[in-house]
Amino acid sequence: MIAVAKLYNDTNDFQRKGGAKIFSMIQHDFGPSAKFGTVVDIGCGTGNVTLDFLNSSQCDQLIAFDKNKSMIEFAREINKSDEVNYEVADISDNFDELKYNIKLSKKADLVFSVYCLHWVQNKTKAFENINRFLKPGGKCYLLFMYWSDLYMCDNEFILSSKWKKYIPNIDEMLSTSAPFHKASLPNIADSTKKLKESMEIAGFTKCEVTIKQEKYFFEEFNHFMLDFHSVCPYVNFVPASERNEFFKDYFDFLRKNYNTGSKNVDDICEFRPHFLEYSK
Ligand SMILES: C[S@@+](CC[C@H](N)C(=O)[O-])C[C@H]1O[C@@H](n2cnc3c(N)ncnc32)[C@H](O)[C@@H]1O
Repeated sequence: MIAVAKLYNDTNDFQRKGGAKIFSMIQHDFGPSAKFGTVVDIGCGTGNVTLDFLNSSQCDQLIAFDKNKSMIEFAREINKSDEVNYEVADISDNFDELKYNIKLSKKADLVFSVYCLHWVQNKTKAFENINRFLKPGGKCYLLFMYWSDLYMCDNEFILSSKWKKYIPNIDEMLSTSAPFHKASLPNIADSTKKLKESMEIAGFTKCEVTIKQEKYFFEEFNHFMLDFHSVCPYVNFVPASERNEFFKDYFDFLRKNYNTGSKNVDDICEFRPHFLEYSK
């Protein structure tokens, strides 16, 4: 599992660019020399994006947590810093348990999260917890996936391949981990309204929800493959002994059908995500 963490850490340029976007919004809102007290990073993965935050802002204490123990073990060993405490915890746990697991002793000035919350089914609980992390006037910046036409292609691959036997109903099976993992683009205006409402139910008073589409270019299809290898949600449904074969079939299909321009593994690869930015 540490090998997967290392692979992720070496290839998460897409997520690091997302982090940079959030950090520049924070700098814009607070000014370049702002100093925060406690800051919380939700779903910190291997911690390299957590450390990127410290390149642009200062704080007394940064609590970075992830529910995946291997990610945290890797972060503690490779991306350590005196200002950061890495902890294993799940953002959808009950608040008291979560607070205990992350050793939160003071309310936070700032909470951020980069490409994690699309995995969390109980978003209302997650938002409630985020609201309770924050001191009055504290702010949060959350970036996560909304949808991508990659999901459409994934759907085609699974339905037309032998792997369908393990993943017979992709939308339903993934609704527990990624609610926007639909084959077709969900209505953006409706989703924005619903997502805003779920933040209000969780206690947020002023929030902005923006859904944007952009293009991201991986220098090579190989880089895209490595990044998505460590976050591929389908492979969990495939028996361990068949996973290498699954990955081979999956990425061959994507190379030919998602990136019609990537004939070879070293050709440039275009990824087209819709992502969500929340700020409060
Ligand atoms: C794509 S990675 C992003 C990691 C990091 N923020 C970055 O930008 O590189 C998503 C991370 O979210 C974590 N995660 C998923 N669900 C979570 C939950 N309920 N609570 C905490 N972490 C979670 C996963 O274990 C994974 O490490």
